[in-house]
Amino acid sequence: MKAFTLALLLSFATLTSSAQVSKVSFDATTKVFRLDGGNVSYVFGVNSRGELQQMYWGGRLGATDTFPAPKPKPEWASFDDSYTTTPQEYAGWGEGLYIEPALKVTFPDGNRDLVLHYASYKTTEHGFDVELKDIEQPIFVTLHYSMDSETGVLARSATIENRGTESVTIEQAAAASWALPAGHYTLNYLTGRWAGEWTLNQEPIQHGERIIESRRGSTSHQANPWFAIEAGTPDEEHGEVWFGALGWSGSWRITVERDQLDAVRVTGGFNPFDFGYVLHPGQSLETPIFYGGYSAHGLGGASRELHLFELKHILPRTASTRGAEMPRVRPVLYNSWEATEFNVNEAGQMALAEKAAALGVDRFVMDDGWFGQRKNDHAGLGDWYVNPQKFPHGLKPLIDKVHSLGMDFGLWVEPEMVNPDSDLYRKHPDWVLHFKGRPETEQRNQLVLNLARPDVRAYIFGFLDKLLTENDIAFLKWDYNRNWSEPGWDAIPANEQKEVYVAFTRNLYSILAELRQKHPNVEIESCSGGGGRVDLGILRYTDEVWPSDNTDPFDRLTIQNGFTYAYTPQVMMSWVTDSPHWMNNRSTSLAYRFLSSMQGSLGIGANINKWTPDETALAKRLIAAYKQVQPTIVRGDLYRLISPLNGSEFSATEDVNRDKSQAVIFAFIHSTQEGRGFPLLKLEGLDPNVEYTLSSIEGKASPNTPTTASGAWWMNHGLVMDQSFRGDFQAAAFRLDKK
Ligand code: GLA
Repeated sequence: MKAFTLALLLSFATLTSSAQVSKVSFDATTKVFRLDGGNVSYVFGVNSRGELQQMYWGGRLGATDTFPAPKPKPEWASFDDSYTTTPQEYAGWGEGLYIEPALKVTFPDGNRDLVLHYASYKTTEHGFDVELKDIEQPIFVTLHYSMDSETGVLARSATIENRGTESVTIEQAAAASWALPAGHYTLNYLTGRWAGEWTLNQEPIQHGERIIESRRGSTSHQANPWFAIEAGTPDEEHGEVWFGALGWSGSWRITVERDQLDAVRVTGGFNPFDFGYVLHPGQSLETPIFYGGYSAHGLGGASRELHLFELKHILPRTASTRGAEMPRVRPVLYNSWEATEFNVNEAGQMALAEKAAALGVDRFVMDDGWFGQRKNDHAGLGDWYVNPQKFPHGLKPLIDKVHSLGMDFGLWVEPEMVNPDSDLYRKHPDWVLHFKGRPETEQRNQLVLNLARPDVRAYIFGFLDKLLTENDIAFLKWDYNRNWSEPGWDAIPANEQKEVYVAFTRNLYSILAELRQKHPNVEIESCSGGGGRVDLGILRYTDEVWPSDNTDPFDRLTIQNGFTYAYTPQVMMSWVTDSPHWMNNRSTSLAYRFLSSMQGSLGIGANINKWTPDETALAKRLIAAYKQVQPTIVRGDLYRLISPLNGSEFSATEDVNRDKSQAVIFAFIHSTQEGRGFPLLKLEGLDPNVEYTLSSIEGKASPNTPTTASGAWWMNHGLVMDQSFRGDFQAAAFRLDKK
C-alpha cells in the first residue's frame, strides 16, 4: 500500500520549475546553513547539543555577513527547559518539549521519546537536504530546503524513514516549523463556509495556540492552509510580513503558538487528528511541502511574491506551454451550470454555445447532468457514461459544434464521488469510505469513494483516461462536493487504516499527474462546491480553481479580495451570472457584474439566451476589452488600493504588469452615502519617469484628468473619478499604457 512512487509527481514538478539558481552556503566550521533568494535570507545551524536550530528568517543579509555557531537558549526556569525554548527546525516530541512537535512517534515497545540530532547534509540544486537521526533509534528524518532565487520563497518538507527492524507508528508529522523571535505580531488567516469562502481574519498573536485546520479529508471551505504574520499591526503596503502556505489537499493543520517567552512558532503538515502512519522497516513517509516567504512591504508585498512564485513554480504547464516562464492566460469560458443546471441536452447546449461564441468566448464548458441517470443530485455519480436520452449520439455532435464555433470544449466531472443510486455503488458498495457495519452518512445524497484503494484509483483513472481519449476535451472542471465522514478502510490491517488520510490524497495527485502526462494539453479546474479544495498541493496539477459557488458580484469583491492574499488572480475563475442574483436577490448592472469578474480569470455563467441585444453588445465589448489587458490582470503585481472589507463604501484594485508598461484599475461603489465622492486613487507600482496614457474601459475620470501624465503624477497626484460616479453598485475600470 505504501509503495507510493513519487517519481511521477516529482518529475512533473521538475518540468515546471525554472532553472534559476539560488545562493546557498554551509560553513563547515560553525555548521551554519544559509539560503539567500530575492530579498530574503534564511539561516539555521547545528547547536552544541546537536539539534538543528533556526537562527534567522528575514530581509536579505550582506554577502559577507557570517554567524557564529548557534547556541541553545538557556533554561529559563525549571519549568521552561532549553529543549522547548530553543527554536528547533524540526523538533521530535521527546526530552522536555511542550510546544507542538514536528514529529511524534511510538516505538513498538511503547517508548515515545524522540530526540532528533544532526547527522549529515547534502547540497541540492536550490538548497540542502539535511539529515537528522534520533539519538538512539534508527529513525532518520531528511529535511528538504529549496529557495526560490527570485522571490525568496522557501520550500520545506521532510522525509521520515525507518531504517530499523521493527515497525514504528508516526502519530504526528509536520512538513516544517517556522520560528520568529519574541515580539508582538498580527496573525492573518483565511476562513469561510460554502458560498462564503476567503474571509480574512486579523488578530494579535496571543499566548497559547491558534489552530487553523481541516479534519475533513480535503482542504476545506472552513479554513485555508495559508498564514501571514505581520510585525506589529496590519498594513497593506508597509512592514515586515512572514507568510506560508501548505501544499496539501487532505486533512491538514497549521498551529501558530506564542510561547511563555513570547517567541512564535508556526508548525504545519498532516493534521495529527485521527492520524496514524505505520512505517515498516525500510519504509519512509514524505510530508507535504510547506512554503514560506518574507516581505518588507506589508501584506501586499507578501501576496505579490506568492503570486509570482505560484505562477512560475507551482502551476502546471501544458504541452504547448512547456518550459514557458508563465502559464498561458485562461481562455474566457462559458459554463452552463447556472443557466441549465442538470437539464443539459444536445440542442440546449448547442444553442448556448452559439450565443457564447458570438460574445467572444474561447471555451464552452458543459457542467453537471450529462452522464449516467443524472437528473438531479440524487443519482448518477459514479456512472460515467454519456446519458443516452440527453445525448443520443454521444458527446461528439456537441463537441464538433463547439469546435466549429471556434471554441474548445470542457466538461464537468466529480470523479471521487458516488450516489448510492448508481450502478457503481450497487456493484461495489465496499468502495466507499465507511466503517464496517456502521451507517454511511450521505451529504448531497452522495458518498466518498475511497481513492486510497488501488481498485478505486484504477477505476477513476480508467474512466477519465477513456473520456479524454475518446473525446476532444480540452478542459475538465473537477468537482468534489462533500467532506468525509466515517473514514474507514477495512481492506487493510486495522493498525494501518488511518493511512487513508495520506494515501487518498497521494492517489488524487498521482491520477492528476498521470492524466496530464497522457493528455498533455488538457487543462483542469479544481472545484469543491466552490473553494473547498484550493491549496498549493492541488495547484501543482490544476490550472485554475473555482473560488466560490457564490457568484453575486458584490459578495465576490470580498471573496476575491480574501482569495488574493494567498492565490494569484490567474487561477481565480470568476463568472458573470444573472441578475437578480439567487444568493442575495440583489440586482446589479451587467457592467458591474463584468468588472467584478474581470479582476480574475473571466467566465460567463449567465443564461445568455435571455440577454437583450444591448446586453449582448456590452458583453462583447467588455470581453474584448478584458482580453487586451488580461495578462496584466492575472500575471501582474496586484495592489489592493481600497479594501472592500468592514462594510466599506468603496473598493479598488490595481494591477501593474511586470515591465510597468501597463496598469489596470478597478473601482467599485457599494452605496454612496451623504454624497461622498469616490476617494482619490493614488496608484502604486508605476515607473515614476514613464509617461502613461489613461483610457477608460468603463466609466469616466474627472474632466480635469490629463490624458497622459508621468507615473509620478498618477502615484502622487492620483486619479480622480468623475462626479457622476456615485450610486449603488457602481463600477468603473481604466487602463494606463506607457506612451
Ligand atoms: C458544485 C460546483 C458548481 C456546480 C455544481 C454541479 O456545487 O461548485 O459550480 O458545478 O457542483 O452539481
